[in-house]
Amino acid sequence: MINLYPLAKPLLMAMEPEQAHRLTLRLLKAGLAPRFCHDDPALRCDVFGHRFPNPLGLAAGFDKDAEVLAPMLDMGFGFVEAGTVTPLPQDGNPAPRLFRDAQNRSVINRLGFPGKGLEYFAARVSDFRVAEAQTGTDPLRGLLGVNIGINKETVSAFEDYSRCLSVLAPMADYITVNVSSPNTPGLRDLQSENMLDALLAGLMAVMGALDIPPVARPALLLKVAPDLTPDQRAGVAQLALRHRISGLVVSNTTLARPEALAPHLKDEAGGLSGRLLKDKACSVLADFYRLTRGQLPLVGVGGIENADDAWRRIRAGASLVQVYTGLVYEGPALVPQVLKGLSARLRDAGLRHISEAVGADVDMNAEAEEAA
Ligand SMILES: Cc1cc2nc3c(=O)[nH]c(=O)nc-3n(C[C@H](O)[C@H](O)[C@H](O)COP(=O)(O)O)c2cc1C
Repeated sequence: MINLYPLAKPLLMAMEPEQAHRLTLRLLKAGLAPRFCHDDPALRCDVFGHRFPNPLGLAAGFDKDAEVLAPMLDMGFGFVEAGTVTPLPQDGNPAPRLFRDAQNRSVINRLGFPGKGLEYFAARVSDFRVAEAQTGTDPLRGLLGVNIGINKETVSAFEDYSRCLSVLAPMADYITVNVSSPNTPGLRDLQSENMLDALLAGLMAVMGALDIPPVARPALLLKVAPDLTPDQRAGVAQLALRHRISGLVVSNTTLARPEALAPHLKDEAGGLSGRLLKDKACSVLADFYRLTRGQLPLVGVGGIENADDAWRRIRAGASLVQVYTGLVYEGPALVPQVLKGLSARLRDAGLRHISEAVGADVDMNAEAEEAA
């Protein structure tokens, strides 16, 4: 199907951002998504027990209620991370809560996990799996990750994560525990050493106790903030290794407000994503690669908007990469552009497989820096 995004973009950009997102979801559900498949064996990745058809994924937050899984995978993504889902439905923060800085190809959001809740989300994932089973398994079809969170009015963060994990584990290829969104009070505190230690121990135990054979269990990932200090990053890396989780997603949005940010947005609360997050997310990723001695798969996300960015992120230690804000500004053409570009860069570098590039630029002995 042809890509209608160049026609739709002026209209979408003229709309209030959340309204534009709602319209986008409606168009996707109506089957108006372009389809693309880039089959390059050199880009297939074996990561945390799964074979990904390519390393480019859709980041969490785009499909919060798991409503457009099939169209996004048909767009050519190697994987889609749906969510963040919370146990109960909730409205999130009052609008306006999503702001574009088009000049800098960046976004500030303080949505606060609005969503229809776990029951609705699980039903959509289940529908998706049933449809998939009916059409037969396509080895080039991307994988499904789910990103789990907590309700604003939660009584116990652990109970919330554990409920989402238990319900979704039989249906997901991987589960990301989101402890890094800046818009739910107290959430980022769960990255502190004591709290994270208890949380990971508890969730690994819940996973182990599920009635699912070990080979069929989803991988468990943790999504971290880019604003952690070097010491905090070292603590998180050590716990990730000690609890043998499957990987880290680096990173969520930042609370930083770089000089270049549009002046009218400087005082808007929320997490900043897109181009203005790029360098920070990349340097924090390289630091996690060093801290985990390249032993833990990392998903690189934050400001990726073309093939060069994806290539640089992989060389900074990412086994997989994700995009969200880049898709807002570039549209679905971003997917073929990044994948074809990665294939070309591999060839130019004389490498046979994308895994050979992972971490190639990281100096394992460098000192961790306070990310800008
Ligand atoms: C509007 C919006 C909503 C988001 N919602 C979530 C979310 O629900 N859960 C989550 O883990 N990350 C969420 N994110 C963060 C993205 O998944 C990603 O980590 C971040 O935006 C950096 O990538 P990007 O620069 O490619 O957008 C959201 C980002 C945006 C822009």
